[in-house]
Amino acid sequence: MKPLANLTENFTESVIREMTRICDVRGGYNLAQGFPDFDAPREIKQAAIQAIQDGYNQYPVTFGEPELREAIAAKVWRYNGIRCAPETDITVTCGATEAMIATLKAVVNPGDEIIIFEPFYENYGPDAILSGAQPRFVSLRPPDWQYDPAELAAAFNRHTKAVIINTPNNPTGKVFSLKELEEISQLCLKWDCLAITDEIYEHILYDGARHVSIASIKGMAARTVTINSISKTYSLTGWRVGWAIAPAPITSRIRKVHDFLTVGAPTPLQHAAAFALSLPDTYYEQLQTRYQQARDLLFATLQEAGFDVSLPQGSYYLIAGTERLRGRMGAADDFSFSLKLIDLAGVASVPGSSFYAHPEKGKTQVRFAFCKRIETLEKVRVNLKRLAAGAPTIP
Ligand SMILES: Cc1ncc(COP(=O)(O)O)c(C=O)c1O
Repeated sequence: MKPLANLTENFTESVIREMTRICDVRGGYNLAQGFPDFDAPREIKQAAIQAIQDGYNQYPVTFGEPELREAIAAKVWRYNGIRCAPETDITVTCGATEAMIATLKAVVNPGDEIIIFEPFYENYGPDAILSGAQPRFVSLRPPDWQYDPAELAAAFNRHTKAVIINTPNNPTGKVFSLKELEEISQLCLKWDCLAITDEIYEHILYDGARHVSIASIKGMAARTVTINSISKTYSLTGWRVGWAIAPAPITSRIRKVHDFLTVGAPTPLQHAAAFALSLPDTYYEQLQTRYQQARDLLFATLQEAGFDVSLPQGSYYLIAGTERLRGRMGAADDFSFSLKLIDLAGVASVPGSSFYAHPEKGKTQVRFAFCKRIETLEKVRVNLKRLAAGAPTIP
């Protein structure tokens, strides 16, 4: 047989989803993958059932049902300060995942450079490869995950097509400040390039942190693609409904890629998503309260167990340093540490190297997701306490 595509040879399968599979086989608490272990709001599920019964069961308008695009436009004006036209500026996609790859496919020419902050959500690496973009990485440094402005400025050049921003951030929990986003905007304007911003954790914020959309900063609406989805805000990761907002000339390109990739996101679920976007502010307040409790509990648990951690300002992830535990656990690197943690304590995490283009940078880190019930996190606490006391736990 002739060789298969070089493109797909160059990236590995998702380590996050691999850890989930190992955890499912071994049994344990899955703090590896970012999906809730509690159910989605009842009234949104009811809206989906209603949409199916009302006959919304055929192909949708390929770039999104009008009702959902209108709901998105209203919500982003209210929450993000972004003005967009539902007819020309929004593409509804199969999750933020499709929105990102469709955007890159729509805007990148082979050899164009894209800037990615590192550590990064693991999809961005393969996304760059699939779109033919040349990634340039800019470090976010622990404990507070700041970048060095000089390093960022040096990453931009005449080949830069776009910078990818993810705020609140997976895996670090960083929330980009207004000042940082203004600094990035200046560079985008200077080098005439796009900002592609993944804001799917925009409602998951702690200790009064504020979410800023770069598209709301002066001069940026014309050069920003804002990506979002219902996966995290409404605990509906399996529905696969997301969107990209961009000025009409960019949207028309994204829509073409999207149409031929997937035709559309599931019709009845788009109608239920429109309902979800109309939920009152109290819904978002309750979501924050839930996650604030979960964050505080996991943070305390990891500190007690001997991990090096800093408090995330947003999203539902924590990167934990394993330096003080590695020797005791007999783990040479992050991968064996994650496997041992499943084996000895029944707790799944993601090896830190999966979030870096330079794997050695993540060798002493693992990532935990805390989008789990308090009862789940309490059980994790018991197991990690036993492990820290030198008594392996086989739950
Ligand atoms: C930063 C980020 N973007 C996108 C996704 C995937 O989003 P969706 O489920 O909408 O495809 C995830 C999932 O974990 C994520 O963390």
